[in-house]
Amino acid sequence: MLEVKNICSGYGELKILDDVTIKVGKGEAVAIIGSNGAGKTTLLKTIAGLLIPWKGEIKYNGVEITRTPPYKRVELGISYVPCEKSVFPYMTVLENLEMGCYNRRAREKKEESLERVFQLFPMLKERKKQLAGTLSGGEQRMLTLARGLMSMPSLLMLDEPSFGLAPKIVRQFYNTLSLIKDEGISILLVEQKAQYALNFTERAYLLDNGKILLSGLSQELLNNEYVRKAYLGVV
Ligand SMILES: Nc1ncnc2c1ncn2[C@@H]1O[C@H](COP(=O)(O)OP(=O)(O)OP(=O)(O)O)[C@@H](O)[C@H]1O
Ligand SMILES: [Mg+2]
Repeated sequence: MLEVKNICSGYGELKILDDVTIKVGKGEAVAIIGSNGAGKTTLLKTIAGLLIPWKGEIKYNGVEITRTPPYKRVELGISYVPCEKSVFPYMTVLENLEMGCYNRRAREKKEESLERVFQLFPMLKERKKQLAGTLSGGEQRMLTLARGLMSMPSLLMLDEPSFGLAPKIVRQFYNTLSLIKDEGISILLVEQKAQYALNFTERAYLLDNGKILLSGLSQELLNNEYVRKAYLGVV
């Protein structure tokens, strides 16, 4: 479904990603792991269209989107949930969710999407009239994820969803995420905490200094001695 081929990308003259090739199949959950500064966020931004690669090709459902603007990629079904809390603090929870479905395809299904999102996140339903800025950090993360779903994506890209969340909330988050996966939505997951990501996904890539160093079944990477030492804190 998503094919990223030989991508070189970065900021200005600064090359970060060097010849990166990854694939995500329909309904598949794939992880990108790697240390700070490896280029994980840069890769998601390039797929979302916030950065245009200077080499390589990106295809979605067989269509080339390498230079397609971000809003059109959202219409095609690609949703990017950034790491930072990115709610609109002075808007209500409901208004924040509505902001997620500005594209026509999603707008037509707004009521249906709202109902589905409220089912996944009952907390947001209870608080739909509350200003988003007054939610706790974890709740704002849930809202950011929920808003990402309002665009009716077929591919959900998540940048470090567990960052700064208490373990109990992380578990809740991943439970919700598996319900989303069960609906057939593909997931591309970036996690600093490789353990979570590798346990959730079927396949994974290890990004190191802008290059794909390893790839394979997540279970294999979990058992890989190098990955265990360098990324899972196992000695
Ligand atoms: N806007 C920017 N301008 C210039 N350089 C940037 C910019 N954003 C990131 N970089 C650089 O790109 C490299 C890769 O950053 P990136 O954010 O993709 O890493 P990451 O793997 O997501 O790291 P982390 O786990 O810390 O989030 C880093 O060296 C970073 O300093
Ligand atoms: Mg990052």
